[in-house]
Amino acid sequence: MDSTNTRGFRIPRSRTFETHRALREQFLAAVEPLVLNTYNHSAKVRADFEAEFAAEMGARYAVAVGSGTFALFLAMRASGIGAGDEVITVANSDISTSAAITNCGARPVVVDVRASDYTIDIDQVEARVTPKTRAILPVDLHGHPADVKALRPIAERHNLKIIEDAALATGAYDYGRPVGAFADATAFSLAPFKPFGSAGNGGIVVTDDDEIYQNLCLLADYGHAPRGPNQPAAYQNYIAEGYNVPLDALQAAIMRVKLPYLKQWTAKRRAIGSALEAGLAGTSARTPQLRPESAPTFRSFTIRVDRQLEVHQRLREAGIEAVIHYAPPITHYSVYAGLFPNADQLPVTERLGREIVNLPVSPEFTDEDIEYMIDTTRSIIES
Ligand SMILES: Cc1ncc(COP(=O)(O)O)c(C=O)c1O
Repeated sequence: MDSTNTRGFRIPRSRTFETHRALREQFLAAVEPLVLNTYNHSAKVRADFEAEFAAEMGARYAVAVGSGTFALFLAMRASGIGAGDEVITVANSDISTSAAITNCGARPVVVDVRASDYTIDIDQVEARVTPKTRAILPVDLHGHPADVKALRPIAERHNLKIIEDAALATGAYDYGRPVGAFADATAFSLAPFKPFGSAGNGGIVVTDDDEIYQNLCLLADYGHAPRGPNQPAAYQNYIAEGYNVPLDALQAAIMRVKLPYLKQWTAKRRAIGSALEAGLAGTSARTPQLRPESAPTFRSFTIRVDRQLEVHQRLREAGIEAVIHYAPPITHYSVYAGLFPNADQLPVTERLGREIVNLPVSPEFTDEDIEYMIDTTRSIIES
């Protein structure tokens, strides 16, 4: 069984399966009533998870859906983004980020990122605001919080919404508050390789905004509304075209078991990040420099190296499941040909795309695992 879980890597991207095995009894107890009771129980389990997750994030509301991709898209739609609008974002992200915008009929407008922590360069945002701009979509890449607090005054000046992509940052804090605290709506992913992953797919949006919350509920439930005054009780009424994409209740049950451990797992991810940073100091690898106010999580630990593809391949040959996230920048994808007129004016984004290599981080890693990763990475980049 182990060989399939680690895919043959000595240090796989994730060892969450070990934690899941340790939680076996709790998982089975949480899942059993869902299988044996009526379907009504599912809605309650999902609602309980939403309330508990919102509380953990210091938010008033949460709506759990089928994936992080969908959470981000729904957050955009619920914030009123639609055809003809422009949304300012970054190009060093997953395609889910830009697709959340284009799938609303809006146009992504990209700005460069900071070389220090790879998140949106706040100083470039205002120059890109046009009369069509409706929102800003910062990404907490790799678990590094974007400086959303600093974006807030820009958003206020131009009446823009901020929708934060925290797919990789569940558990991170900024300015003493959970990520998402400074955005109008924030989307998290519950996919297995994310810092707070389920046993399948999932995503969740948090917000403090009553209107966004009502829109989220409406859109996530087909657009279903209470009956009109003159309608027979058996008839339906829809006031929007929505979707049927709730988080599967089995995943909600699993995430309820996991939520109380999030803080301790995040602390372990941070400790692994610190150990890797210290262990690679003095080598040619550049490590992320995070703002002192931020308390990141590490979905992975990113190093920047000169021989990216070679280092990536040699790490994998040595049993370390390194990945390259995300390269090239989304501006290069064929599907976006011609969409980004300033694609050649993103020097930091381009450089990161050529240099980044992501080392695995998983709370289950032992001191020996981390030592092996440090020694192996040092010897590969120094040879
Ligand atoms: C930055 C970012 N946003 C959004 C997503 C989408 O999340 P999901 O895989 O749950 O759809 C991902 C997934 O990798 C991501 O990395």
